[in-house]
Amino acid sequence: MATILVTGGAGYVGSHAVRELGRQGLHPLTFDNLSEGHREAVLSGKFVQGDLADETALDQVFASHSIDAVMHYASRCYVGESMEDPQLYYEQNLGNLLALLGCMRRHQVRKLVFSSSCAVYGDPTRIPIDEEHPLDPVNPYGETKYFIERMLRHYDRAYGMRFVSLRYFNACGASLDGRIGESHQPETHLIPRILQVARQEEGQLPIYGDDYPTPDGTCIRDYIHVLDLASAHLAAYKWLSEGNPSQVLNLGTGDGYSVRQVIDGAARITGRKIPSQVFPRRAGDPPQLVCAAGKVRRLLGWAPRHSSLEIILETAWKWECGRRY
Ligand SMILES: NC(=O)c1ccc[n+]([C@@H]2O[C@H](COP(=O)([O-])OP(=O)(O)OC[C@H]3O[C@@H](n4cnc5c(N)ncnc54)[C@H](O)[C@@H]3O)[C@@H](O)[C@H]2O)c1
Repeated sequence: MATILVTGGAGYVGSHAVRELGRQGLHPLTFDNLSEGHREAVLSGKFVQGDLADETALDQVFASHSIDAVMHYASRCYVGESMEDPQLYYEQNLGNLLALLGCMRRHQVRKLVFSSSCAVYGDPTRIPIDEEHPLDPVNPYGETKYFIERMLRHYDRAYGMRFVSLRYFNACGASLDGRIGESHQPETHLIPRILQVARQEEGQLPIYGDDYPTPDGTCIRDYIHVLDLASAHLAAYKWLSEGNPSQVLNLGTGDGYSVRQVIDGAARITGRKIPSQVFPRRAGDPPQLVCAAGKVRRLLGWAPRHSSLEIILETAWKWECGRRY
C-alpha cells in the first residue's frame, strides 16, 4: 500500500494535509518530533515521533514502508529567530533536508512536495509577485527555502527526483469542524493574535506601522486558508504521480487585505471589540505581499475554495473558542 511520508504532519499546515490525504483514501505517515506540533492534530494514518536529524530513525521509516512520495513541511519557521540564530536555521532546515533527500535516494523515492515560502522573494520590487520575480531573501529563514529550491533542481537533474515547491503566502484559518487549527508558542501570526485579543487573552493588538504607502497605512498580505493549502498539496502530488515535470508555484489568492481590514473583519465575525495600539514599523516588513496566483491554477487546475476573509476568520474563531491543544 503506497504511503505518503508527511514530515511535520503534526504541525499547523501539515496536519490539515494529513487529514485531507486520509479523506481522499491515501495513506499518510506523519514523521514529526513534536517540537512545535501536536500529537492530537494528527487525525489520519500512522504517526512516528522522530527527528529528521536522526537519519537512522528516518531510514528505518523508509525501509519499513512502501513510500511513494514525501510532503516536507518540517522546518523552523520564525523569521525573527532566524535572524538571531542563523546557524539553527541552516542546520535544521538545510541539514535535515539533506538527510531526508539522502534517505529518499537510498530508497528510490522520487517525488517531493516542498513547503516553500514567499520569503524567497525578499522585499518585492513589483506587486503582484509572480514566480519570475527576482529571488532575494532578506533573512536566514527565507534563504533556507531559497537554497532548498536550488538544491532540488540539482537533485531532479542528477537523480531524477521530481518536486513541486509551493511558495505559500500567509497560511491561516482552521478546519471547518474546529477540530484542528493553529497553535504555536509563541504565536506570531496576525489572525490568531487578533482572535486572542478578542478572547481577552491579550490586552491589545500591536500594529507595527500605520504609515506604509497603502490605502489605510497598514501592511497588506495575501491570506490563504490551510484547507486550500492542503488541496494544493494533493494536486501537486497528483501532478507528480502523472509523470509531469518539477514546478515552483506561488500559493495565495491574489487578493490582499490590510492589517486594519483583518481587524475590522474579526470584530464583525466575533462581535467583540479588538483594541489595538500602533507601534513603529518593524525592520523587514514589506508594505505589500500579494501573489500572482495564475500559474498554479493553470497547471494544477487548483483554485482556493475557503480563502475568503469571512471563512478564514469564521473557522479560525471556531477553533480559538474550542481549542483542543
Ligand atoms: N504558516 C505559514 O504561514 C507558512 C507560510 C509559508 C511557508 N510555511 C512553511 O510551511 C511549513 C509548515 O509550517 P507550519 O506553520 O505548519 O509550521 P509548524 O511549526 O506548525 O509545523 C512544523 C512541524 O514540523 C515539526 N518539526 C520541526 N522540526 C522538525 C524536525 N527536525 N524533525 C521532525 N519534525 C520537525 C514541528 O514539530 C511541527 O509539527 C514550514 O516548512 C513553513 O516554513 C508556512
